[in-house]
Amino acid sequence: MKTLSTLPFAAILLVAGTCIFMNCQPANQQETSAATVDIEKEIESLIGQMTIEEKVNMIHASSAFTSGGVERLSIPEMVMSDGPHGVRHEHGRDWAKDEGVRDSSTYLPVGTALAATWNTDLGYQFGKVLGSEANFRGKDMILGPGFNIIRSPLNGRNFEYLTEDPYLNSRMVVGYIKGVQEHGVAACAKHYIANTLEFEREKVDVQMSERALREIYLPAYIAAVQEGGVHTVMAAYNKFNGTYCAHNHYLLNDILKGELGFDGLVVSDWSAVKGTDAVTAGIDIEMGTDLEQMARGQEIDYSKFYLADTVVALVKNGDVDEAIIDEKVRRILRVMFRIHKFDERPPGEYNTPEHQAVARRIAEEAIVLLKNDNVLPLQKDNIKKLAVVGANASHKHAGAGGSSQVKAYYEITPLQGLKNGFLDRAEITYRPGYEIKKGGTSDQRLINEAVKAVVEADAAIYVGGWIHGFSDEWNDNAYDAEALDKPSMQLPFGQDELIEALLAANPNTIIVLMGGGPIDMRRWKGQAKAIVQAWYPGMEGGNALTDILLGAINPSGKMPMTFPEKLEDSPAHSVAAYPDENLVIDHKDGIFVGYRYFDTYGVEPAFAFGHGLSYTTFNFADLTVNKAGEAVTVNLKLTNSGEMAGSEVVQVYVKDIEASVERPDKELKAFQKVKLEPGASRNVTVQLDKNAFSFYDETKSEWVVEPGKFEILVGSSSRDIRLRGELEW
Ligand code: GLC
Repeated sequence: MKTLSTLPFAAILLVAGTCIFMNCQPANQQETSAATVDIEKEIESLIGQMTIEEKVNMIHASSAFTSGGVERLSIPEMVMSDGPHGVRHEHGRDWAKDEGVRDSSTYLPVGTALAATWNTDLGYQFGKVLGSEANFRGKDMILGPGFNIIRSPLNGRNFEYLTEDPYLNSRMVVGYIKGVQEHGVAACAKHYIANTLEFEREKVDVQMSERALREIYLPAYIAAVQEGGVHTVMAAYNKFNGTYCAHNHYLLNDILKGELGFDGLVVSDWSAVKGTDAVTAGIDIEMGTDLEQMARGQEIDYSKFYLADTVVALVKNGDVDEAIIDEKVRRILRVMFRIHKFDERPPGEYNTPEHQAVARRIAEEAIVLLKNDNVLPLQKDNIKKLAVVGANASHKHAGAGGSSQVKAYYEITPLQGLKNGFLDRAEITYRPGYEIKKGGTSDQRLINEAVKAVVEADAAIYVGGWIHGFSDEWNDNAYDAEALDKPSMQLPFGQDELIEALLAANPNTIIVLMGGGPIDMRRWKGQAKAIVQAWYPGMEGGNALTDILLGAINPSGKMPMTFPEKLEDSPAHSVAAYPDENLVIDHKDGIFVGYRYFDTYGVEPAFAFGHGLSYTTFNFADLTVNKAGEAVTVNLKLTNSGEMAGSEVVQVYVKDIEASVERPDKELKAFQKVKLEPGASRNVTVQLDKNAFSFYDETKSEWVVEPGKFEILVGSSSRDIRLRGELEW
């Protein structure tokens, strides 16, 4: 047992810690507040014993993924690790990969896949797996969830994030964070804020209105802090309205720590601190400046970080108040106590069948059936020859993409999943159809081979889309990856020509797309009878996909983002513009992100936010909307009117009919995922409070609900509204 300066305290903490850890509620609130008071007392006692050098040693990195401790006082380093959908491989203390360590782990479906489940409990299950494995690997902080709003179809890291909608974003992060932190590991809400492009991410200046910040980009952070109790937040690389996020007093001190009451710690993104002036802006730990030192060809020297020796000198000569440093150390110690750094955490688990089962369940609920003209599900017994085409059918994605890379314990590709699903009951012919290589274009020989296989088969499945990298190396990023954006929405490697040829040979060819963002499908979308969006579905993805294609699982995924027909339809590239040489990303689209734009301005998307088909059908009926005071209750009856059990996501949107400001055509304000047997019905009740009807009034700097008529829209997607009701506010 690690001891602290005062043993009795550690004992009290253990009791409280046990309560907190075991998720039981202490006998009474008195005990909890006693533990809290004791933690704060112990923190002050420790700070009171520290020299300024020891304090400053805690506020910057001590290695690639650790921040400093104080050995004299038995305060250990804080150990961090990526990433948002699996514990990354070991990095070593100076970025030289630890070889020969047991660091393969559970490769969960990526963020967009998790969001596409619209299942908040799966978010919690996801977090529990991640927290348990991070704990097993000796990590104190896992650098996730990443939940920047998905705004541009080109953003290289969309796959890591969740959604375009602030409400879905808010709902999905809470469970994830609670699941992680239940294991005594700190989650990290990132990247705060509006790091929604990878282009020149360390230089761009994101400019937006206060209303856009409040209505679109902040809500998930409010949920993460005030509902999820997230212990850490990561300051983003970019500037926000002219000031680097890691130096942004307004974002960090005024909003996050002030208004939201965040009492954990703020860590910088790696090398996001650009100078010592950050010391007063709210950053608590400076990480990654060693990358900057290495980039300059310098030796790594942690004492030369911006918040290191220079700060000691500034405090000693009175230029920086020591109380500022004390507050940083206070927050770091508070997180350490909350993650049981000073007492014992029960051991985590690693690469267990249970964790793999969670990965599979998430993949099963994440895969979205976009289009199905009576092709799916496949009838396995009628298939003796199956053609599988597409290099993505056998490509493994886990290891690339940047810092979110995972050394997967295993990864079941779509091809492997189909082999598992068909066993030896069918002859499976695989043809790559295209080659995954830099600058790859269509290859007529590969196309001909693929077409031949499709013509000779009873059924054909194409698996294409985006990829993270050409290999497992994080820095040979290709498309869905960190530090770069996609060049367009066009499929790479000549896939369009191939898909056209396959559909001409067999219109029933099932088109399965992998990736983290929209694709321009105009050349073949009309000819395709079945289109499936599979995201990057994790280590069990191939099995989950097969279960869906064969009808063992009824698809229930819903789009967490809009897929535009073409890039120029996206408000991020029409109303606003991709940043130019002045590196300003002017968010002229404001609050009109995703369906808020498409539905308000009448732009038809390829596939709408919230869209996802099922093998059964659902009937929505008997809507009632009752307002009592400021509480609105929405009731409806949902019936599975088809032949197969399945799940529907009942989506509730609010429309402000009479507003003094421009408001979106609709805004998602509630949803429920409901599983029903064939013929079964269920009453669905949704409560809406005042916030569901409010907008942020910049003239008053507050949220307001204006009196007048509102419409309640209930549907199966943002564009498939089944019931409408009205109320007067
Ligand atoms: C990266 C990423 C961040 C990651 C960190 C550590 O540059 O932006 O998401 O957690 O650095 O690898």
